[in-house]
Amino acid sequence: MRVPSIEVTGKAKSSGAKDVFEKCRQFTRPTDLQAAGLYMYFEVFGDRDGCQAGEVRLGKRNILMFGSNDYLDLITHPKVKEAAAQAIRKYGSGCSGSRLLNGTLDLHIKLEAELAAFTHKQAAVIFGTGFQANYATLSALTEKGDVMICDHNLHASLVEGALRSPARTVRFRHNDLDHFDRCLRNCMPNEKLLVVSEGVFSMEGDIADLPGILRLAKPWGARVYVDEAHGIGVLGATGAGAAEHLGVLDEIDIVMGTFSKSLASVGGFIAGERAVVEYLKHTARPFVFSASLPAASTAAVAAALHIMRTEPERRHRLLRIASLLREELRARGFQVLPGETAIVPVVIQEEVDLCRLCKALLEEGIYINPVLRPAAAQNLLRISCTAAHTEKQVDRLVTTLTKTARLLGIQA
Ligand SMILES: Cc1ncc(COP(=O)(O)O)c(C=O)c1O
Repeated sequence: MRVPSIEVTGKAKSSGAKDVFEKCRQFTRPTDLQAAGLYMYFEVFGDRDGCQAGEVRLGKRNILMFGSNDYLDLITHPKVKEAAAQAIRKYGSGCSGSRLLNGTLDLHIKLEAELAAFTHKQAAVIFGTGFQANYATLSALTEKGDVMICDHNLHASLVEGALRSPARTVRFRHNDLDHFDRCLRNCMPNEKLLVVSEGVFSMEGDIADLPGILRLAKPWGARVYVDEAHGIGVLGATGAGAAEHLGVLDEIDIVMGTFSKSLASVGGFIAGERAVVEYLKHTARPFVFSASLPAASTAAVAAALHIMRTEPERRHRLLRIASLLREELRARGFQVLPGETAIVPVVIQEEVDLCRLCKALLEEGIYINPVLRPAAAQNLLRISCTAAHTEKQVDRLVTTLTKTARLLGIQA
């Protein structure tokens, strides 16, 4: 069988016709994939009434969810939901304006102070999404003559921010300190440097060598920016992320976090030196020219942050579950990437196999995200664990995955 290309996010080829919409009509990849039974996007989930922890509703079925980044299982926590509901009752459904003008609430100011303290920084600022936080900050902070030295595997929001910036961008091989050192040495003495890494890499789930990065970068006067989207809530003595876990949180110049994962809401933040935060608040265009985070989302984050800090057992349970899953999958011959976070990526070489596997698992009642090149260096079944998962659910996942892969003739 000839299988259509599985990449659906790329640009469609222009047909040359004189209508900008023409390329959209020529964009048949999603329908080609649907026809081949390989389309895996935009599954529609319903409410969670009657779902157990770790489950979501898909049509009439309860599905075991191993694709969510709700790492601490707080999205449905009664205190988080109540905080959001109460905020809606008190403040209404939105802010109808930019933070700069009419859109700042006392809830924003309070949460920013808490996030600054949480990440050991002088100040913090909240954005509408994590994507916006990265994009806005990298593009606003750097100028012509600066150099951004970026890990090769950065999230699209960081890549887009770097592309939007007038600074020169240099990419070092993923987590490769020798190459990073060479990149630093190749910069001109007059160039100002910003090093950008993720704390926990979003697709591979591995942890950046932040102590190594700091050791090499600081003698050059470089500033270090770390995206802790997948580290916060998962790693560190207080859940502040990979930098805290590695004992270098105080040395990181800028910490970025998102609210869409462990913090059970939507939005993002940047924390750092007060002057930097003030600069961003007045110059970062996606911040200045966009409405502020609604009260309900802000209050949900504050409640989730409180639970995260007072219930460290959630983080410990999550890490135990992820470690058990890694062990069980390896014991059955699956190629699991090394790591110690909530993300358990299994290499499936062929993209067609990966898509067929995800479809078949869904038939069996288990949802897992497929990650296709070039979103990661290799095609991955990206399993994400949460504090909701039980040993029994891990057992069901491992048994079903082993059986399904064998039935489809997929090499573990
Ligand atoms: C590493 C990383 N940074 C930033 C983001 C963007 O976060 P948000 O979903 O809040 O826009 C994500 C989301 O997937 C991510 O994985």
